[in-house]
Amino acid sequence: MSEQKPDGGSAGRGTRARARPDYLRTKSVEQSIQDTEEPEHALTRSLSALDLTVFGVGVIIGTGIFVLTGSVAKEQAGPATALAFVVAGIVCALAALCYAEFASTVPVAGSAYTFSYASLGELPAWIIGWDLVLEFALGTAVVAVGWSGYMRSLMDNAGWHLPAALSGPEAAHGFGFDLLAFLLVLALTVILVVGMKLSARVTSVVVAVKVTVVLLVIIAGAFFIKPGNYDPFIPEPKGTVEGSGLTAPMIQLMFGYEPTTFGVQGIFAAAAVVFFAFIGFDIVATAAEETRNPQRDMPRGILGSLLICTLLYVAVSIVVTGMRKYTELSIDAPLADAFKETGHPFYAGLISFGAAVGLTTVCMILLLGQSRVFFAMSRDGLLPRVFSKVHPRFATPYRSTVLLGVIIAIVAGFTSISELAALVNIGTLFAFVVVALGVIILRRTRPDLPRAFRTPWVPVLPLVSVAASLWLMLNLPAETWLRFGVWMAIGFVVYFLYGRRHSRMNLPAGR
Ligand code: ALA
Repeated sequence: MSEQKPDGGSAGRGTRARARPDYLRTKSVEQSIQDTEEPEHALTRSLSALDLTVFGVGVIIGTGIFVLTGSVAKEQAGPATALAFVVAGIVCALAALCYAEFASTVPVAGSAYTFSYASLGELPAWIIGWDLVLEFALGTAVVAVGWSGYMRSLMDNAGWHLPAALSGPEAAHGFGFDLLAFLLVLALTVILVVGMKLSARVTSVVVAVKVTVVLLVIIAGAFFIKPGNYDPFIPEPKGTVEGSGLTAPMIQLMFGYEPTTFGVQGIFAAAAVVFFAFIGFDIVATAAEETRNPQRDMPRGILGSLLICTLLYVAVSIVVTGMRKYTELSIDAPLADAFKETGHPFYAGLISFGAAVGLTTVCMILLLGQSRVFFAMSRDGLLPRVFSKVHPRFATPYRSTVLLGVIIAIVAGFTSISELAALVNIGTLFAFVVVALGVIILRRTRPDLPRAFRTPWVPVLPLVSVAASLWLMLNLPAETWLRFGVWMAIGFVVYFLYGRRHSRMNLPAGR
């Protein structure tokens, strides 16, 4: 079945073996699928479309809606935060249509990494894999820290107080260790090592709690809306002093605008932040290898979970900014506090509980997505192969899961949320750009491949997706671009010192 040439080029249509530099060699789609059939490196196929949708909703609804809504409404967009969610949702829907084609064409572990290995070449694939490790690892840490905040607030209600030194760097105002975030990541690592089936079952219960709480916010909150709070719906633009320099959106620096918040630009800056609330639908694609019928179920899982979440986010932000004037929203627990401050503490307690429970699954699935990307990169020899052995009994990639779980637990213990979320967003948007380009390229190089789901209007739709993702990236702070550049530069060094030499594509027939 393998069509690999000794130089690693594929004899398939279009991926010609003619003098192509080794860092642009592609791994044929057939080879990717065949690799998953090696018993020592194979994952079990146990997930259905419903599992995938639950999986998607489980990871998508999280810190974004429960935490970021408040600060974005208060500082960037006011009641127009709902529009920011619509903008971010459209960017994600465009990307989802590209992801769905790729996931149904290349149904193996590793998401955008695997897709780009099959279409763009080894170095672009490495860059994407490296980028996804950043997205998922930091995303896990961000959500774990957010969860820890909600847990501490629940514990405070019950009269249990953790010492400040164990409540994370922000609470300790200096050196502090976030014990709860650390423990959460370790516990979830153990669950993932024990097996997908168990984690999917736990996930579905938790997702039910989370969705119920979000619906509660929408339905109960609708009765407490004061229409006057929507005036003005799009607040007047305001110049910012602290928004200058590297903290200003890249686009404002590039075009020499005076840094502002609110107004129409504020909606886009807000969209670049609340984009975090949508991260996760792409992770559904990382579970392709563990899906019973990926050709049919992947597109359904991805698009279904994205649609449900977009509708819920828009409804929640409209309700919350209607209940409280945007200037008075809380930043730590905006959904619960909107109820508390309008005199409904019982609802507030329920919402805090649901948020704490719900953030658990987000954290777990981000961790899962991340270990699977690492697994796929290791299986290809771009990272040490020792990490891609699956557990003899649980059939999970336990080594990569444990390694990454421990590192993330430590990061979560010592890190504060705010700056990391922007870094996660830029990494994810960059992956969207590569996947959309990959769809166009793979249509040309491998038109013969069966595609259970075809992105409509290629190449127009993928190109619009690229432009939309780049636009949101430009609305992120300049300092985020700098940090992202540093991480990617390290990735280049690792590839040229290790991955390029150890790639399985160096072996005859790609073995
Ligand atoms: N979308 C996920 C969240 O909002 C990552 O927490």
